[in-house]
This record gives sequence, C-alpha cells and structure tokens, in this order.
Amino acid sequence: MYQKFDGKNVVVTGGSRGIGLAIAHQFAKRGARVVITATTASTLETTLILFQHEKLQAVKGLVLDLSAPLAIDSFWDKVQELFNGESVDILVNNAGISDETPLAEIESEQIQQVFQVNLIAPILLSKAFAAQFVSKPTSFGSIINISSIASRFDDPNHLIYGVSKAGINKLTQNLAKQLGKQGIRVNAILPGSIDTDMTREKYSHPEIYQALVNRLPLSKRGTGADIAHLAVFLASREADYITGQLIAVDGGWLLQ
Ligand SMILES: NC(=O)c1ccc[n+]([C@@H]2O[C@H](COP(=O)([O-])OP(=O)(O)OC[C@H]3O[C@@H](n4cnc5c(N)ncnc54)[C@H](OP(=O)(O)O)[C@@H]3O)[C@@H](O)[C@H]2O)c1
Repeated sequence: MYQKFDGKNVVVTGGSRGIGLAIAHQFAKRGARVVITATTASTLETTLILFQHEKLQAVKGLVLDLSAPLAIDSFWDKVQELFNGESVDILVNNAGISDETPLAEIESEQIQQVFQVNLIAPILLSKAFAAQFVSKPTSFGSIINISSIASRFDDPNHLIYGVSKAGINKLTQNLAKQLGKQGIRVNAILPGSIDTDMTREKYSHPEIYQALVNRLPLSKRGTGADIAHLAVFLASREADYITGQLIAVDGGWLLQ
C-alpha cells in the first residue's frame, strides 16, 4: 500500500529533526506540499537543504518557537501564504520537549514550558487548523498528534512530560469527537523508544541501551521512519474510518 498525497497541504511542527523530519519526508515523497518548523532559521536552512538534495522542493520552512504563545496566530497566517491561500489538509503536532526532573526539583516555570510546547501549542494549532478547514467531497482533514508511551505508565522520571502527553491523548479523543462532523479525523501516535536527538545521549550508554533492548519484545529501538509510516497511513484515505485512536509504535514495550 503506497498512499499518495498529491495536492495535499501538510504542516509538521518540529520537522527539522528526528521523528518530525521523518514524517515530513514521507509526506513530501508522496507528493504533498509540506511546511516544517524549527526554532531557529539556521536549523531550518540545514534541513531544507537536505530536502532540496532529494529534489523535494515542495517542502518549505517557517521558524516557530512554540514556547512563545503569541507566535501561533501569525504562524498560521504565514503557513497560508506559503500554501497560496489554500487550506491545510493535514496537521502533525510533533514538536515536543522531554523532561526528566524529579518531583522535589520541579519549578513552576519548567512545568509551564513543557506544558506550553507539548500541550497548549497543539491545542492552539488544532484550533487554527479546524477554523480554516473546509470539508469538500475531495478533501480529507486529519490531525495527528505525536504523544508518547510515557502517557501510559507512571514513571517518576517523566512526571511533567508524562502528564503533558496524557493531556495530548485526551485532546486527541475530545477533538475526534467534536471535529468528525466537520470531516476531520484526529489520532495520536504513541512512540516508544525512538533513536533521535531527544534520546540519543541516554542510550549511548551501553548498559542502558542493552537493558532496554533486552526487555523489548522486538529487541530493538525504533526509528523516525517507523512513526512516519503510521502517520501517512493515518492521514490517508485508507484510514477514512479511524478517528480518536491512540496507537503505540513501541516494539511491544507496553505489553510488559
Ligand atoms: N524520541 C523518542 O524516543 C520519543 C518517544 C516518545 C515520544 N516522542 C515525541 O516525539 C516528538 C518528536 O520527538 P523527537 O524525538 O523527534 O525529538 P527531537 O529530535 O528532539 O526533535 C524535536 C523537534 O521539536 C522541535 N522543538 C523543540 N522545542 C521546540 C519549541 N519550543 N518550539 C517549536 N519546536 C520545538 C525541534 O526544533 P529545533 O530543531 O529547532 O530544536 C525539533 O524539530 C516529540 O513530541 C516527543 O515528545 C519521542
């Protein structure tokens, strides 16, 4: 099955690296016009050069720092300019930050920062997406939220992060219920341990890496592509009757 997205407009937040980059790449390869975001112009430029080398010219970039709430409205205006006034068909709320602070050391600013990027920004972006999306017989609207399996277990090391991702799961289900009649499906992917910058340092320690791999039923860490393949499926016509789902892509981690 090879889904095509010719003529579709896609926004992937945090498309400069890791999972977001893999998702943007899959959509671009399948014919979509894609806007990716990064926090700095230099990161964005480096990533866009990679796409140009692959002749994927329909990928454009915008600087967006989701920790600055006011940036979101003006961001959406710029997105529509890049898509020549056309509406966005697919929104991937991918950008996120990790946090492993123990309870005793947590400060209020830090909670606000993690919640702002991981939860409040996706809510505001989803609002902007829903407001501009016009359902037509030929159009299909889709929001894909990148949550985490940390939303499903109570790891003291992932307190704020886990709560923010549990919030994303609820957001997914609530929006699925209220936006379905508007022709928008909303689903979440819960990655397990994926090899990206976010986790690379931690798993560069052989004992930590081995302990993880030993307990995973599939005995390996995942890649951005593992997440991206599900993202394109969820956004496609083939997934036309799927909404409100929280799907783990975790090598079987949650089975334990
Ligand atoms: N890797 C894993 O094992 C794993 C597991 C479960 C869930 N996830 C989730 O998957 C998503 C992507 O993670 P990843 O592993 O690909 O992370 P990553 O490699 O650290 O990339 C994070 C992306 O988010 C962007 N970003 C960071 N802070 C931002 C901010 N304040 N405003 C806007 N964009 C910001 C980054 O942009 P810059 O390049 O400008 O910094 C980058 O594009 C996150 O939501 C994460 O929670 C990851």
